[in-house]
Amino acid sequence: MVKAERSHYVCEECGEASMRWLGRCPACGIFGTMREERKEVPRSGDAGPRAAPLRMGSVEAERPRLTVGIGELDRVLGGGAVPGSLVLLGGEPGIGKSTLLLQAASSLTGQGARVMLVSGEESAAQIGSRARRTGSINPDLYLLCETDIEAVVEAARELTPQVLVLDSIQAMRSPGLDSSPGGVNQLRECVSRMQSLAKETDAVAFLVGHVTKEGVLAGPRMVEHMVDCVLYFEGERFDSLRILRAVKNRFGSVSELGIFEMTDGGLAEVEDPSHHFLGAREEPVPGTAAVVVMEGRRSLVVEVQALVVPSRLPAPKRVSTGMDHRRLAIDVAVLERKARVRLADRDVYVGISGGLRVNEPALDLGVCMAIASSRQDRTLPPETVFLGEVSLTGEVQPISRLEERLKEAARLGFRSLALSDKASLRERPRELELVGVRDVSHALATFGIT
Ligand code: TYD
Ligand code: MG
Repeated sequence: MVKAERSHYVCEECGEASMRWLGRCPACGIFGTMREERKEVPRSGDAGPRAAPLRMGSVEAERPRLTVGIGELDRVLGGGAVPGSLVLLGGEPGIGKSTLLLQAASSLTGQGARVMLVSGEESAAQIGSRARRTGSINPDLYLLCETDIEAVVEAARELTPQVLVLDSIQAMRSPGLDSSPGGVNQLRECVSRMQSLAKETDAVAFLVGHVTKEGVLAGPRMVEHMVDCVLYFEGERFDSLRILRAVKNRFGSVSELGIFEMTDGGLAEVEDPSHHFLGAREEPVPGTAAVVVMEGRRSLVVEVQALVVPSRLPAPKRVSTGMDHRRLAIDVAVLERKARVRLADRDVYVGISGGLRVNEPALDLGVCMAIASSRQDRTLPPETVFLGEVSLTGEVQPISRLEERLKEAARLGFRSLALSDKASLRERPRELELVGVRDVSHALATFGIT
């Protein structure tokens, strides 16, 4: 095939392309990042092999998924991994990506799948010792310590694994490109090699991607566009809880969470997350309120924790971890204006127990109650759950999927539940007493927080 060669320039930071060389990237504004790249352009009328139209009737139904055998991972993948697809697992260094994928690789091997684990960062001995530690020793798992993507592809063509783990994408390099590993060109080349390999051999490829402190994949967003699934593995450094979430999934929902705990023997699935998030609640403490949140199809009870302290600042602080700061600002404003809780000279800190991030309006009532409880230094009844969206007028609104949330609250032994007096229920657990509230100040009065 006759091709013309045309060169263009691509920013190593953000992937912006330009026809001519520029000292500073027009998109991200960084100097000295534009690198030349030659691209073969097919001449017109010579576009290579073409796909023929298919009759819908002859299209095969979706291939069965490969279930990893780690329930929390399978859930986030949407019921297992799809053959021929690329899954990117992102997360900060040290969070447990290699551990999770080693456990997944071992579980898949145990089910009879041919799995190849490629490490560009660790030696076989290091992987072996991790495997021993986590009980993931599996004599039939293939290991390859390599950073050259061509060598990986070659080995994979020979072995034809059904599952390939590449740890990490930033450590790989293509010898054909002279830029450094981890740069845009290298990443794109390595991912695209994996893409064609996965398609060609119908394998699932898991790619590990390191994420910077700012929470973005080190390297460009572009990698996320190239893969079918993007999973993020998160957690607090000093807490053992790890949360796996999908931010992109061509084959499933992105609202499911996988919850793990990092133990001495590797990652363990958390069987009863509510118990975990709620912790031991013996003595009621001012500033805490229990809420049931929905994460995907699962309901979880979490504790909202608020701390209100005198402020010396002209603009007092409103700090939230685990919830949207705009929602916190609204809840604070509603408390001040509609329920006459004085917060103008107070700093307000709000967090969610266990380091979970919740983005649900159903949290509002619990947040308002926890803040007021801390402000007035009065405790809320510990056996009560608070559920409601709070509107700008201070009214408590009904929320979605109430029945499921009630069930979870009852299961955990809560005895009463405060909710909007406008909520209608088809069924309710008998052991829960329902307390209807009209608005925030009605709720505060009902629970003696005035
Ligand atoms: P690792 O999987 O190497 O993280 P990543 O690949 O994301 O960089 O996990 C590293 C951390 O996990 C390390 O600090 C030790 C801890 N860890 C345990 O606590 N228990 C274990 O069984 C293992 C294997 C690791
Ligand atoms: Mg690692």
